Amino acid sequence: MSPARVGVEDGAGQQPSHKAIDNGNLTIFKPKWLVLDDLNIDLISFVMVLATSTSILFFDLPARIAIPAAAALILPLRLFLPRPKTLQGLVLITGASSGIGAELSYIFAEKGHDLILVGRDEEQLEAVKNNVEKKYGKTVYTISTDLSLPGAAKQLYYHVTKEGFTVDVLVNGAALGGAGDTLEQPIELTERMTTLNCTSLAQLTQLFGRDMIKRGRGWMLQISSVGGWMASPGQNIYHATKHYVRSFSEALSIELRAYPGIVNTQLMPGPVHTQFVTRAHAKERFIMGASGAVEDPKAVATAGYNGLCKGKSMVFSSWNAAFTSLLMQVAPRSVRLTVASLMNAPLRGKARVKEPEKDQNVRGEDLKGRRGDEAE
Ligand SMILES: NC(=O)c1ccc[n+]([C@@H]2O[C@H](COP(=O)([O-])OP(=O)(O)OC[C@H]3O[C@@H](n4cnc5c(N)ncnc54)[C@H](OP(=O)(O)O)[C@@H]3O)[C@@H](O)[C@H]2O)c1
Repeated sequence: MSPARVGVEDGAGQQPSHKAIDNGNLTIFKPKWLVLDDLNIDLISFVMVLATSTSILFFDLPARIAIPAAAALILPLRLFLPRPKTLQGLVLITGASSGIGAELSYIFAEKGHDLILVGRDEEQLEAVKNNVEKKYGKTVYTISTDLSLPGAAKQLYYHVTKEGFTVDVLVNGAALGGAGDTLEQPIELTERMTTLNCTSLAQLTQLFGRDMIKRGRGWMLQISSVGGWMASPGQNIYHATKHYVRSFSEALSIELRAYPGIVNTQLMPGPVHTQFVTRAHAKERFIMGASGAVEDPKAVATAGYNGLCKGKSMVFSSWNAAFTSLLMQVAPRSVRLTVASLMNAPLRGKARVKEPEKDQNVRGEDLKGRRGDEAE
């Protein structure tokens, strides 16, 4: 079956008036504090480390008692919580035709999930679908739609629900980048990037998330970026959209404490060797071409999947990604902006990352190879 095509004109319904939107549906935030999620565990750990060091330094508490006591409280919390939840049900992945999204499709299928794969490139969606069906025997439904157009997220949701699907796991992976000077970037690119990376991501989360709340279970994986921690000369608009994703997802995880059973995880990758780099014209940026920090999409997808299973609100794809994020939070503004400028510096032909693999049919060969290995 060829991919279903969803356009913004399908079943959009009437737009409400601006007055209805301005005055619409204010609900009340229901804060919940006493939850042993990863944020509260970090908070407890921080308070314990602070209290222990203060007691040792200023109140003469013997270190040989204070440190093991603090460790005895912190370590079990950090090792065993948040409690892992078993992922179940149908998975919808946007940006499934390549890169991290395609790798997540293979991981979810391997774990036994049926899939809805969303992207624009019908041929590549079909390739991922064929790979999944041949290797894992799961049912795959593909939808070709352009999520950078206004209203596209709503159309996708209406189409999926009209077809009778119940989405238990939502992966928001589709995004577009753009390297270059802000004032030189095409205005249309800015519009498309913000609609795709921000608006569609938030709307899909709202629409599918509401249904998850009604059912009392659901998982959402937001693919963010280490760029969400930095103001980046040379990749300004893209990283600004990732600030949106980071902030949106962090706050959402706190709101979702009121709804046990719903998990929201944000995946923070560093630079990854995918088509994204080519599309964003970033192959010759220092961070891609010369830093040696470029990550494998399969490893990044695995980190995201594991984080979601563990119910974490944020997960880093590598130590490098975690360190860069920490640096960008604690370093003075002058250091942060200088480092970010260096990372995005153009290498002007001196070095470039090698062209990432475009064709998911090639990935299929690799999956087949693995099947052969297993059979031996
Ligand atoms: N690669 C990196 O260095 C890096 C670093 C940090 C974070 N990330 C994030 O990781 C996520 C996945 O990126 P990736 O590295 O895997 O790049 P990728 O291989 O380029 O994948 C992007 C996916 O988004 C889809 N997409 C792009 N524009 C779309 C549109 N208008 N409508 C619907 N789908 C669209 C693409 O499919 P079609 O072409 O079929 O539309 C593709 O499947 C993104 O959120 C990105 O911001 C990437």
